[in-house]
Amino acid sequence: MTIREILKMGDLRLLRQAKPVTKFGTPELQKLIEDMFETMADADGAGLAAPQIGVDLQVVIFGFEKNERYPDAEAIPRTILINPVLKVIGDEVEEAWEGCLSVPGMRGMVPRWAKIRYEGFDQHGNPISREATGFHSRVVQHECDHLGGVLYPMRMSDLRRFGYIDALVPGREFISRDD
Ligand code: NI
Repeated sequence: MTIREILKMGDLRLLRQAKPVTKFGTPELQKLIEDMFETMADADGAGLAAPQIGVDLQVVIFGFEKNERYPDAEAIPRTILINPVLKVIGDEVEEAWEGCLSVPGMRGMVPRWAKIRYEGFDQHGNPISREATGFHSRVVQHECDHLGGVLYPMRMSDLRRFGYIDALVPGREFISRDD
């Protein structure tokens, strides 16, 4: 496994439309996923999308157990999601602070659909279909946005609630995690 460089906002490779995976269960796909998990763990992230390491494929990973550092975030199952399709359930929108490993040191208040269904495949081509709410729903929307070249600041409705963690900390709550 290899820790890969995470591209930062401004790099044009983050703005591409990622291509679907056409072959499952290959050593190349397995290596990519292992590298992504190692890179995400090294950066202490909640999720990572392949375009963030410069790989133009529709592959995202996410998930973590509850831990001491992030006591408020619910546990999310460790998931490999390939060629995902998201469907919104209902019309409720929730706002919360969000970060991104490609936008280091910053947080923004981002509106997201409260409830979604996501479908896709694991690395062997087995179908995945789940409903998600709360932080789980938010993380999936954030990671799948990366596959369409969308970074969270593009989803924000109020750029006054966007800034550096150091400056936001006094008196303001945010999710202290890069997704
Ligand atoms: Ni991100």
